[in-house]
Amino acid sequence: MAERLLYEGKAKKVFTTDEEGVLLHRFKDDATAFNAKKRGSWAGKGRANAAISAAVFEYLEANGIPTHFIERVDETTLKTRRLEMLPVEVIVRNVAAGSLARLIGYEEGTELKAPIVELCYKDDALGDPMLNWYHFRELGVSDADLEFCEELGLRVNGLLWPFFDERGIVLVDFKIEVGRDAGGTLMLADEISPDTCRFWDKTSGEKLDKDRFRRDLGGVEEAYEDMLRRVTG
Ligand SMILES: Nc1ncnc2c1ncn2[C@@H]1O[C@H](COP(=O)(O)OP(=O)(O)O)[C@@H](O)[C@H]1O
Ligand SMILES: [Mg+2]
Repeated sequence: MAERLLYEGKAKKVFTTDEEGVLLHRFKDDATAFNAKKRGSWAGKGRANAAISAAVFEYLEANGIPTHFIERVDETTLKTRRLEMLPVEVIVRNVAAGSLARLIGYEEGTELKAPIVELCYKDDALGDPMLNWYHFRELGVSDADLEFCEELGLRVNGLLWPFFDERGIVLVDFKIEVGRDAGGTLMLADEISPDTCRFWDKTSGEKLDKDRFRRDLGGVEEAYEDMLRRVTG
């Protein structure tokens, strides 16, 4: 099957194939943080993220969430439907961490009264700023699409919280992306992995996600392997 590179991002290479409307996402071992100002790489990262994403998408599909996922084709590659992506990053938070802790002056680790949804504009040059609905309207994103994003984020959170809780993990927060297929159907896209979620061990509080890389905490490879075992083991 002829693969053509469609897009190379920070964490994945995306290919078209001979199959119309289908993409391959090859997960790289590269890691970036702080809008790609910090870069790194380690063996096994792509494999861990592909396998974790595949397992999470399968679980979400089985529970009624429409996703782009078709199948995992090899250790680092997922086959998905090809979508027109919304320029939106949907963040859902259960516990204050990172930018939210700074934004509202909470100590990191403070449990939130209810999940908080944030909508960010997916634009590297602008640093993916958090915007409100007025800004998104100005940028041409419809209210109906934003409503879908928020509802999808909360539904995914409602399913992922118990999924990770059973595996001894607090789902602190996560980011998802949304796209539309040729028929106009919106669905969950991109990836769900330790790159895009904050995972804290329920008993020790240990961070098992990309914050180990961002904050130079060490043990980043082990953390991704631990999450892989917990999700697929
Ligand atoms: N089903 C899909 N169809 C089309 N594009 C997608 C789909 N899922 C994810 N994408 C896009 O493919 C790219 C994935 O590569 P990635 O390395 O994550 O990029 P980035 O550096 O933008 O985060 C992202 O731009 C993402 O929005
Ligand atoms: Mg990405």
